[in-house]
Amino acid sequence: MPKNGTHIKAGKAKTQGLYDRIADVQNLAMKLNGYRKSVAKYLRSLDLQIGPESLVLDAGCGTGIVSLAFQDAAFDPKRAIALDLSFKSLEVAREQLHKRRKHAAKTDIVQGNILHLPFADESLDLILMCGVLEYTPLDTGLREAARVLKKGAPLVLLPVKPSLVGSVLELLYKFKIHPLDNVRVAAARYFSIVGNHEFPITEPIAWSKTIFLLEKK
Ligand SMILES: C[S@@+](CC[C@H](N)C(=O)[O-])C[C@H]1O[C@@H](n2cnc3c(N)ncnc32)[C@H](O)[C@@H]1O
Repeated sequence: MPKNGTHIKAGKAKTQGLYDRIADVQNLAMKLNGYRKSVAKYLRSLDLQIGPESLVLDAGCGTGIVSLAFQDAAFDPKRAIALDLSFKSLEVAREQLHKRRKHAAKTDIVQGNILHLPFADESLDLILMCGVLEYTPLDTGLREAARVLKKGAPLVLLPVKPSLVGSVLELLYKFKIHPLDNVRVAAARYFSIVGNHEFPITEPIAWSKTIFLLEKK
């Protein structure tokens, strides 16, 4: 019987392999579904205190759609880091995120695990997380995000919500949706829950995602 750590490593390798295989298709799907526009609109509506000294992380960035939305929303941090397990997804992310010269020099593409973030305690000013905690234990993922965020800094969390589309994605992408009550309970251990935004139903992102705005306690 393999030890728990062996299971986790095998799960991580499977996820990485899956996204290495499907990065191009995933990127096309994300381009067509309008997520980028919806997330950019939401981010623009927030009073995020992001300035020339800020460090921002897109944790589990995939092909970079959320980071692109962050660029679209006209935030201009000192550095933006896009981190993911999948090399192939990161290749696509690099190509897209480095297109605008202004952002290219300030955007780092990093292969890594959101459960072991390569950052010092309380060093980041904002984390964006979309559709990635579904691959990890909820508490461990949120605890690690809280560790690297400065006190009072926001985590913009977009979990997959229990829904018809969510269930289809769960099968296709081999993840596990966390019930939203569990997300709230786990988040409240490390964060104040500032808001829970629902996207308008006319935007495809509303069919599978919700947004929590959290603030590190
Ligand atoms: C559903 S995709 C979401 C990608 C992106 N955030 C978006 O919204 O388009 C999930 C991503 O999480 C990544 N991932 C899963 N587990 C991870 C982990 N432990 N650390 C880093 N990335 C992870 C996968 O490689 C994949 O790119």
